[in-house]
Amino acid sequence: MTRPSPAFSDPAPDFPFRARRERLLAQMAAQGGGVAVVPTAPERERNRGTFYPYRPDSHFYYLSGFREPDAVIVLVAGATPRQLLFCRARDEEQEIWTGSRHGPEFAAERFGFDEAWAMETFDHKLPGLLANQPALWTGLAADPAWDRRILAALGGARANVRAGTGAPRTVHEISSLLDEMRLIKDDAEIALMRRAGEISAAAHSQAMRATRPGRFEYEIEAELLRVFRAGGSQFPAYPSIVASGPNACVLHYVDNDRRMADGELLLIDAGCELDGYAADITRSFPVNGRFTGPQRDLYQLVLAANHAARAAVRPGNDWNTPHEAAVAVLTQGFVDLGLLAGKTEDLIEASAYRRFYMHRTGHWLGMDVHDVGQYKVDDQWRPLAPGMVLTVEPGCYIRAADDVPEAFWNIGIRIEDNALVTAEGCEYLTDGVPREIADIEALMRE
Ligand code: GLY
Ligand code: MN
Ligand code: MN
Repeated sequence: MTRPSPAFSDPAPDFPFRARRERLLAQMAAQGGGVAVVPTAPERERNRGTFYPYRPDSHFYYLSGFREPDAVIVLVAGATPRQLLFCRARDEEQEIWTGSRHGPEFAAERFGFDEAWAMETFDHKLPGLLANQPALWTGLAADPAWDRRILAALGGARANVRAGTGAPRTVHEISSLLDEMRLIKDDAEIALMRRAGEISAAAHSQAMRATRPGRFEYEIEAELLRVFRAGGSQFPAYPSIVASGPNACVLHYVDNDRRMADGELLLIDAGCELDGYAADITRSFPVNGRFTGPQRDLYQLVLAANHAARAAVRPGNDWNTPHEAAVAVLTQGFVDLGLLAGKTEDLIEASAYRRFYMHRTGHWLGMDVHDVGQYKVDDQWRPLAPGMVLTVEPGCYIRAADDVPEAFWNIGIRIEDNALVTAEGCEYLTDGVPREIADIEALMRE
């Protein structure tokens, strides 16, 4: 069969996918060796023959750059490591309907595998690949269909024990290695995350320009989606939150169907996904372009918390330092504004701020918006190190209540940026959209 027509959506050939597989193999070897089996995500039907947009599994894509569904990576550690890909066979009839497939032959060459095989042979071949191996490395308890399939292969390998063939005696959770690898981003990942941050910042700037009283939240969501897609992003990294007025106090609001009124704030939490990598930005700004009264006071407070947390992101500080910095500023501010009463240290100790600030100041960011990686190691908050990417996202959410001054009711504010830890300190990936009051107001006048 002829070579498939160019798949323009393949990543650039110089991406370090093979080097990542080699690093994983070296770590497996250091822990006794074995065979890693990493499937991609299944296609998911939405309704009657219509499917959700396809996205590969993050571990699988991290190791391969391969975007077709129905594929599995098999890595055999040992003196002569082997890298295998199972993928869909070429099929002229199917390719007319759903697009060209690489097929095993071209996929092996294009993605740097030692061997590739048609997916139809996978269940038959896997027991043989597990034979005489000390361990199986895979992900269990995430997808029951995968659990059944991999356990059947393990059973198949054991069935040959009486013929003198060994079978894996240990099953390792492969995330124990891959999560840690993915936590420290390599240069190729950092380049993509910078670009995802730029596109997402441009989308937020456009949303600020487009917002005015009387428009609907979904009209602003449409502006975001247009800039994401026009920038080459495949999809939003998570459902966009476009929350005006009281909706900003609903943390995961996604209906985006309210008409925005004069005098309200709009909170937008949205980021694009570019070639598998997420951005995650929040901005809060006045629908009419002018911060006034209590919303201005609260905005200044969250901005001060954002500054304090941002300044705390550097190597040597631990994961929790930015959160502690934000909580200290917010709690003092809640006291100053009459929202909390008492001594600031006592209120922090008692977590009293949680009434108005109920989430943490960030999370790891990468292929998954809430990315992989432990936050504590040996029960201690993990030190920040170069190559880690995290969000910084202090906020405050004030619902109507008898003991809260009415002027603050229904105000929700969050200011969220994405930070790359560097040797010197950190680089912010999302500073292309303004955060300071004067800068937001100037942009909205355009
Ligand atoms: N957009 C999800 C988050 O900020 O964590
Ligand atoms: Mn967010
Ligand atoms: Mn976030």
